[in-house]
Amino acid sequence: MKADVLVLATLATLCSILVYTDACSCMLSHPQQHYCNSDFVILARVKRERIHADSRIYKVRVRREYKISEKGTLALKSGRLITAVWDSMCGTRLQPGKLYVLSGRIFSLKAYINLCNMAVEWDTLTRRQRKGLKLMYKHGCSCQIKRCLATEQRCPRHVDSCNWGNDCETKEGICMRQANNSCMWTRNRALAKCTKEWRKNLTANASHKREPTLLYHLP
Ligand SMILES: *[C@@H]1O[C@H](CO)[C@@H](O)[C@H](O)[C@H]1NC(C)=O
Ligand SMILES: *[C@@H]1O[C@H](CO)[C@@H](O)[C@H](O)[C@H]1NC(C)=O
Ligand SMILES: *[C@@H]1O[C@H](CO)[C@@H](O)[C@H](O)[C@H]1NC(C)=O
Repeated sequence: MKADVLVLATLATLCSILVYTDACSCMLSHPQQHYCNSDFVILARVKRERIHADSRIYKVRVRREYKISEKGTLALKSGRLITAVWDSMCGTRLQPGKLYVLSGRIFSLKAYINLCNMAVEWDTLTRRQRKGLKLMYKHGCSCQIKRCLATEQRCPRHVDSCNWGNDCETKEGICMRQANNSCMWTRNRALAKCTKEWRKNLTANASHKREPTLLYHLP
């Protein structure tokens, strides 16, 4: 299991933007980014977990494969997902019995998951996110998704990316190259409705003269 520890450590470093000595930190990712940047994305029910040396090993039953390579198929035949035991090394925790959408990486024919990957309970996904996983995210992988929370000034537009500024885009957004070659959130009713409500909330918040939001304190 020494090799696993090494891989886990490497993964933990790769996924951290700031490397703390005692904490794992991940850049927040949109579900479409998880989809595009992972070796595998699956729907799986967690059966059991056990600890072996520095690894926590989850035994899962794979219910659906949204994205997987040939190596991934081999690795996942065992139904084993490996993660670090320690939070500080980005070890992730799953609950036996629950059904998750999980993303991760394959190294040496083993499947690894960590805190920076996607591990979302199936029940909490929106219809649009399920459709994205099943059909649409894969068509958007040539587009970047850029976190952009500025609420007063506009975020600069780029042809090759969508600006990700609110929760509506997380829940209902699928970033795709449009007919004119620009990447944009694909229009749909759920996104329009959510965005309208979000704008209304924003206006209401502004008129209450709240403290400037935390956004502006970020480095
Ligand atoms: C591309 O088309 C969308 C509408 O689908 C429009 O909103 C956007 O401004 C266009 N982008 C460019 C660069 O022309
Ligand atoms: C708008 O505000 C309401 C009440 O706080 C909240 O329940 C709802 O989720 C908000 N909607 C959005 C899109 O932020
Ligand atoms: C409005 O303020 C509430 C409470 O501070 C916050 O949770 C919510 O995200 C804000 N909504 C918007 C759209 O900024």
